Amino acid sequence: MVAQIIDGKLFSKKLRKQVSEHVNVLKTENNITPGLAVVLVGEDPASQVYVRSKGKQTIEVGMNSYEYKLSEDTTEADLLELINRLNVNNDVHGILVQLPLPGHINADVVINSIDPEKDVDGFHISNVGLLATGQKSMVPCTPLGCLLMLKNFHGSLTGMDAVIIGRSNIVGKPMAQLLLNESCTVTITHSRTKQLEEAVRCADIVVAAVGRAEMVKASWIKPGATLIDVGINRVKASDGSTRLVGDAEFSSCSEVAGAITPVPGGVGPMTIACLLANTLVACCRKYGLEDPDIIPN
Ligand code: GUN
Repeated sequence: MVAQIIDGKLFSKKLRKQVSEHVNVLKTENNITPGLAVVLVGEDPASQVYVRSKGKQTIEVGMNSYEYKLSEDTTEADLLELINRLNVNNDVHGILVQLPLPGHINADVVINSIDPEKDVDGFHISNVGLLATGQKSMVPCTPLGCLLMLKNFHGSLTGMDAVIIGRSNIVGKPMAQLLLNESCTVTITHSRTKQLEEAVRCADIVVAAVGRAEMVKASWIKPGATLIDVGINRVKASDGSTRLVGDAEFSSCSEVAGAITPVPGGVGPMTIACLLANTLVACCRKYGLEDPDIIPN
């Protein structure tokens, strides 16, 4: 079997186009421009790349982008003060604090200081609780992107066996909630799971989000299963060059799976597109407008 490639790059482009059309309507009919504030503390090179990309794409869909780049030694109190200002700024509809934060700042305190209605990452404890109880919430961007790709590929996910590898607050746990809400039977596994391979081999849907380069092998995959690879790992080749690989070994897994997301070009581009979609949703909710219908096909 040769897996179908789930093209996240193409799908995210369609999603961004839909977001941009909704933004246009908001601007022309309601005189509202959605605004996204992104806060970066420190100089982490990967975070700098992500933040630049978020700012660029925010502007491309017609939203206002506000970037705050703070030095590594910024105090927690100063960061909280900035968030308080953004919370009450009517031009800002979404707030994202790029993680990881420097060690002297308590990320939980910072995340929970964001107005939950502007929490476009969906990390605030009230959004986590709303999602867990199946209520309307802001949904974390990476798992939302995975879900949109899965629903686009399969239609209904009802009754499917889903195995998630990874238990992070950013991906694994919210992914489990989303798939449960779609009536999947969900197993969360992680690096300490006994008989991990056997568990994964039972899955119709595998979401690999464990952060270990090419850990998932073809022999773990049930023939025909759908493999969503959330990993972005930079590995060094013997000639000193680097390349990006996922948490699954793409070349061999794509001979067994029925469908697979590539790295790069799979989940990655969907994450930022979902951030823009969440910002649009937050903006619509603020003005009592209906949630936009933004599921591309
Ligand atoms: N760092 C890595 N992924 C994310 C994400 O989805 N949101 C934020 N805020 N930081 C991240």
